[in-house]
Amino acid sequence: MQQAITIADLRAIARRRLPRMVFDYIDGGADDEVALGLNEARLREVKLVPDVLVDVSAVRTGVTVLGQPSALPVFISPTAASRMFHTAGELAVARAAAAAGIPYSLSTLGSTTIESVGAAHPGGRNFQVYVWKDRGVVRETLARAKAAGFTGLILTVDVPVAGNRERDPRNHFTIPPQVNWHTATQTLARPAWLWDLATSAPIRPENFIEASKGHSGGVMEFLDRQFDRAVTWEDAAWMAREWGGPFAIKGVATAADARRCLDCGATAVWVSNHGGRQLDASPATIDLLPAVAEAVAGRAEVIFDGGIRRGQDAVKALALGATSCAIGRAYLWGLAAGGEAGVRRALAILEADIRRTLALIGCPDVAGLSGRFIAQGQPRR
Ligand SMILES: Cc1cc2nc3c(=O)[nH]c(=O)nc-3n(C[C@H](O)[C@H](O)[C@H](O)COP(=O)(O)O)c2cc1C
Repeated sequence: MQQAITIADLRAIARRRLPRMVFDYIDGGADDEVALGLNEARLREVKLVPDVLVDVSAVRTGVTVLGQPSALPVFISPTAASRMFHTAGELAVARAAAAAGIPYSLSTLGSTTIESVGAAHPGGRNFQVYVWKDRGVVRETLARAKAAGFTGLILTVDVPVAGNRERDPRNHFTIPPQVNWHTATQTLARPAWLWDLATSAPIRPENFIEASKGHSGGVMEFLDRQFDRAVTWEDAAWMAREWGGPFAIKGVATAADARRCLDCGATAVWVSNHGGRQLDASPATIDLLPAVAEAVAGRAEVIFDGGIRRGQDAVKALALGATSCAIGRAYLWGLAAGGEAGVRRALAILEADIRRTLALIGCPDVAGLSGRFIAQGQPRR
């Protein structure tokens, strides 16, 4: 892992370890993958201008994420079924996050129980939900998350329907991945991954096994039927009341919706396009951020995600109004490359980048980042 110098190096190792269908599930986006590419490209285009002759002998990187301290301005975004990428899965990521002093967010589609993730991370831990038709199941899940010490709730709102990720059907990808005549060549080419899959517990949405019992079809079918496509702001407000603690709405794109988030009780507005996996015609998230930050005007946290591959990307997002940044693929590639050690490596790379960038722009504290550090001609806060 020490040989990986960049997040791109971890991605290259992940590509060598995973069958194509699993690698592509992490790597890919919706339709023509324009939004995915734009997220990265537009972040890269943002330029920082330094203050010089500033004492940067000590650099402060701590922020608040959903009311909890985070040692870094980046934290773990929720992603489905991590055990597909490495059998240590969510627990490996949660432990690496705990070691780095940053919050972990467990996806509703996680492949590890709420209780074991809760025990693996003593700090800020967030649970991500969708609104299920059966509100009783939602209530029960929230109660479990509370009992396991989860501190924040994230409602993801950019999945009214599943995005059109064309790599998946082309590769015959399923959750859990199947070894059959369509996938034999790619899976047999990755024997270490295949051995792990064959010798470990089945990969499934662990937190809904009980709820799905007694219903026809498997747990995946149960969740598919539970997905409520009629969800509106009233449901978001209900969720905020039901949780009664730090609450983020993830997948917000406009200033008007950011204001609605505040009206319905959100304590964090999360600018995201699901890493380009949903609406392919979405603008780059970094282009959406300034207007959302302006609308929120300090009344709530502003979380940013999409395309963070280097620490300087997070510094740019904070300068453009985010209070923290979530990472998806950056840690998933680390997980796939080397389990917990790979995630630790990804976080160490990002931390070193963030510290270096802050020193290079003469900003010894992330709290001091503002539009002042963004070069002329760039979107400003
Ligand atoms: C493989 C994968 C699975 C994901 N699963 C979820 C999920 O279950 N829930 C969710 O809210 N977001 C999910 N996301 C979106 C991430 O939380 C995040 O918004 C996105 O990855 C950020 O973009 P980045 O990957 O460029 O950092 C997923 C992303 C990836 C790459």
